Amino acid sequence: MLGALCSSSICIPAAIIVALRFGRSVREVVVGDARGFAVNLLALAPVAWLMARTFSLPSGWWATLLFALPLYTTRVAYQKFVEMREMFTQTIGALAEAVDKRDPFTSRHSWRVKEIAVDIGREMRVSEVELEALEWGGLLHDVGKIGVPDRVLLKQDRLTREERTIMNAHPVLGEQIIKPVAKLARELPIIRHHHEWYNGSGYPDRLIGHEIPKLARILHVADAFEAMTAARPYRLTPLTPEQAIAELRKFSGIQFDPEVVDAFVRTRWAEGLPDPGRPTVEPRPIPLLAQAAGRLSQAASPPTSTAAPPS
Ligand SMILES: [Fe+2]
Ligand SMILES: [Fe+2]
Repeated sequence: MLGALCSSSICIPAAIIVALRFGRSVREVVVGDARGFAVNLLALAPVAWLMARTFSLPSGWWATLLFALPLYTTRVAYQKFVEMREMFTQTIGALAEAVDKRDPFTSRHSWRVKEIAVDIGREMRVSEVELEALEWGGLLHDVGKIGVPDRVLLKQDRLTREERTIMNAHPVLGEQIIKPVAKLARELPIIRHHHEWYNGSGYPDRLIGHEIPKLARILHVADAFEAMTAARPYRLTPLTPEQAIAELRKFSGIQFDPEVVDAFVRTRWAEGLPDPGRPTVEPRPIPLLAQAAGRLSQAASPPTSTAAPPS
């Protein structure tokens, strides 16, 4: 975005406007976007020098016009790139919405999860590349539900063990669906691991602590908060944001990464709400022996008790 404006030599004012619009620091905007357009500017510098030299020749301004065509085509190509990216994001959004729409209770779920996850990412000062992964990963995290039959996805009663196993396969299924899209390689760990628990009792791989990719830990908190504060067939009255924050704190260190929960309570989603703060005693991770036993019994007994049920 900023790159397009920088060609008009208004980088800093544009950065200030973008920063104010999205609640980010000017430095963050300039440094983050600079990666995207630095190469472009470096490539244009020799052209600018050549134009200046040509202009200083007798009748040089006529010759300078010769540069107009390649510069114009470059400009058009860049504009096409921006449009393609926008179209890609919109297509992903439409796919996510199609998945969410299957269940009337989860309409716009993925879009809201994406919004929350990006805000947490900003609080944790992740890179621009990681923010983009959170954006697309947030939209696509539940895409594997395409493969979950209606009798399971839309069931209003408690799921049986077999149905729970089918439902819990959606992260792996989502990874398999997205894998052929090379451009979305960074989003794959988010999709696969967004139901892992910090203490190692999540799924599908029962990763523990920082074995879980950072962006998946962020998405897990965003996913849980959205699920808790929206109506679900098993809980028609959603939790208030205040109650949901209390749940996040309660399960901090068990289900959720405490650092991510700390970052979440600094976002606009928790603004003005009371925060019980971190638990005074950090819950211990499950013992290694129990963890190993859990891994062995994973296929037979997927975890079912959660502060925020799979969404
Ligand atoms: Fe999910
Ligand atoms: Fe979800």
